[in-house]
Amino acid sequence: MVRVFLTGAYKNGASVGSNRPLNWIIGMVLFICTLLLSFTGYLLPWDQLAFWAITVGTNIASSAPFVGEQIRTFLLGGNVIDQNALIRFYVLHVFFLPVIVLLVFSWHMWRIRKDGGLAVIDREARDQKAAETAAVKSKTYSLLGIVGGSTVHVRAKAVDEEGNSVPSAPHLARRIAIVSIATVVVVLILAILFPAPLEEAANPAVTPNPAKAPWYFLWLQEIVTDTTLHLGAFTINGALIGGVLLPGLLIGLALWWPYRDKSGLESVGVWFAPERRRQNMVFLALCLIIIIFTIIGTFLRGPYWNFYWPWESWPSTPVRF
Ligand code: HEM
Repeated sequence: MVRVFLTGAYKNGASVGSNRPLNWIIGMVLFICTLLLSFTGYLLPWDQLAFWAITVGTNIASSAPFVGEQIRTFLLGGNVIDQNALIRFYVLHVFFLPVIVLLVFSWHMWRIRKDGGLAVIDREARDQKAAETAAVKSKTYSLLGIVGGSTVHVRAKAVDEEGNSVPSAPHLARRIAIVSIATVVVVLILAILFPAPLEEAANPAVTPNPAKAPWYFLWLQEIVTDTTLHLGAFTINGALIGGVLLPGLLIGLALWWPYRDKSGLESVGVWFAPERRRQNMVFLALCLIIIIFTIIGTFLRGPYWNFYWPWESWPSTPVRF
């Protein structure tokens, strides 16, 4: 997603029938599915970390106006995290979400072909065409005498598009197979070398302090805890701002952005195109803020969500039963 944004690859090039903004939206669906896969997988170890992370996560989700409680009940298959929630997360994790991802991913790849290939290829072909069809310092002998530039025949041969492309099967299919298998092998080796830590079994009666959401939602938890606003007698819930409104706004902005970005054809498929400099800066700043908040939430937050430097020891807190 970062690569696509920084190269303006969600923009249509010159090829007819291309709809890259749609592929960006399909990508957003993949992004949300990835988060859901991670979230549903997080509960499965059924240890204290898993149990309380999902408790925090679903509590944040339940702060959505009007439908919050329904979302929580839908996710958990009830009001509490118990065996119903476990089986629901398991089935979502090993069946429904992977099937959805497989289908959406196939659509994602198919769209790239329909869009005339990757944006960078689009640009290279355009540059090449421009170079080849530009007035060449040569002479052509025609029936009407000697004219400047090369003949149409010479130009057509130079921009031989067939010669610039290869069929996706086997060329791409083979590469995807190699990358997929290599990824599985590397992950397996890492899993054998560094077994995943397991805490004590999930215990709804013992609340850890601090209770943290899964790490990729910690930037949100950071905002959730910092944004509770008190305006006179009113309290605007931080979970609503940090857990629902802000992520909703960011997702909405991301979906709309390809349509809002009106930069020219020259910035399609180009890293850090000057015309898109400002939006790239804003995008990178947002990424940086999310990374910094994730680091703070992961390493620098202790009991009662207080801030501790890594060299400071945490005070012992009474265990809540
Ligand atoms: C499960 C997650 C995803 C997978 C496996 C995936 C896979 C791919 C692959 C293999 C490509 C072509 C190769 C390349 O980038 O060089 C691609 C291109 C693309 N992806 Fe994704 N993607 C995912 C998520 C996303 C997301 C989150 C977005 C944006 C919101 C996105 C938007 C795009 C677009 C617009 C292209 C075409 C880029 C171009 O023409 O240069 N994808 N994706």
